[in-house]
Amino acid sequence: MHELNLIFPGLNTCRILVGNGILRNCATYVGESAASQSAIIITDSNVGHVYAESLLRRLEEAGIIANIITIPAGENNKNLKTVTEIYGQLARLYADRGTTIIGLGGGVVGDTAGFVASTYLRGLPLVHIPTSLLAQVDSSIGGKTGVNFEGLKNQVGTFYHAALVISDTVTLSTLPPNEFTNGVAEIIKSAVIADSELFTLLEASIDRLHPGKADLLDEAVFRTVKIKGQSVSGDEKDTSLRQLLNFGHTIGHGIETASGLSVRHGEAIAAGMIAAARISRKMNLLSSNDFLRIRSLISRAGLPLKIGGIDPEDVIQAIKHDKKIKNGKMNFVLITEPGNSLLSREVTLEMIKMSILEEDA
Ligand SMILES: NC(=O)c1ccc[n+]([C@@H]2O[C@H](COP(=O)([O-])OP(=O)(O)OC[C@H]3O[C@@H](n4cnc5c(N)ncnc54)[C@H](O)[C@@H]3O)[C@@H](O)[C@H]2O)c1
Repeated sequence: MHELNLIFPGLNTCRILVGNGILRNCATYVGESAASQSAIIITDSNVGHVYAESLLRRLEEAGIIANIITIPAGENNKNLKTVTEIYGQLARLYADRGTTIIGLGGGVVGDTAGFVASTYLRGLPLVHIPTSLLAQVDSSIGGKTGVNFEGLKNQVGTFYHAALVISDTVTLSTLPPNEFTNGVAEIIKSAVIADSELFTLLEASIDRLHPGKADLLDEAVFRTVKIKGQSVSGDEKDTSLRQLLNFGHTIGHGIETASGLSVRHGEAIAAGMIAAARISRKMNLLSSNDFLRIRSLISRAGLPLKIGGIDPEDVIQAIKHDKKIKNGKMNFVLITEPGNSLLSREVTLEMIKMSILEEDA
């Protein structure tokens, strides 16, 4: 099992555990992190029937009284209506400040459960048990909670850290393959911006990166977790790392918006990473060989290099609304070699448009 402990301002700590089959010992970990006598598991309609009952049994065997709240799966249910319904159930279950909220599911469950934990009774202890690859490597770390509001993504939310994150990679075996690939995009992103060893590992083994290869998957997940963890923890010296995590996301978010959110996040980020690598190549920061290595890895992961049927002008319009852009200038992430990246303010909207239109470096 891999373990990482993050310390945040105010001395809040977050213990992150990554391993294969570690849910077996979940009651011990929950007991160590939050001295609660009761817990409420918030899960969704896809994940709950597979994992919630055995989790509940293990908690109860350890003397923790547990209940399950199941919300309907899907991004459309990440909203205040769902939150209100959960508040109602918490009241009926007599949840008090000693009740630990356990979010068991993908990023939708994690964001919703985190929001509920941070607001109900002004804050309940929170544990994340992420079951999608994206949630394990990204959304369960960093303390962002929230729900969508009137069509605006994550418009209402809080910062609230979980005391404990248990990422059991066994749970990924039931994840639909396209959801798995979605998470692989974030692993590749982390390797490209900050971890040349992970990049080399992925180059050698991306075709074997699946739940059946526990050691490889655990290593890839944990390395990615460490990069996200470093970028969000209070003792992080290099504050630019958080911005470097936006690699592929400026253009990727533009693609998602221009497609009316019909393109999956991981696919949009993959196309965004290729476009950003192409700009890096054009600016002579990245060698042709390294561009091809990044391109090949993304392609071998089953991710698209380009999203068809989207007008680059619509992508540019969407990017212009990005709140990180001031006076047409943005901090844009460029690559110098796999594992090394930098922030540039020299990238223009015209360069972005060309990078989306072009086929090759
Ligand atoms: N808080 C953050 O920092 C942060 C970061 C990135 C993304 N997010 C949010 O995360 C969400 C996306 O997360 P996601 O990709 O996990 O989506 P998701 O939670 O919708 O999960 C994807 C699908 O997989 C199912 N699923 C999850 N785990 C499963 C398992 N083990 N077996 C079978 N089915 C399983 C879910 O029910 C769902 O249908 C978005 O709402 C996004 O805004 C938050």
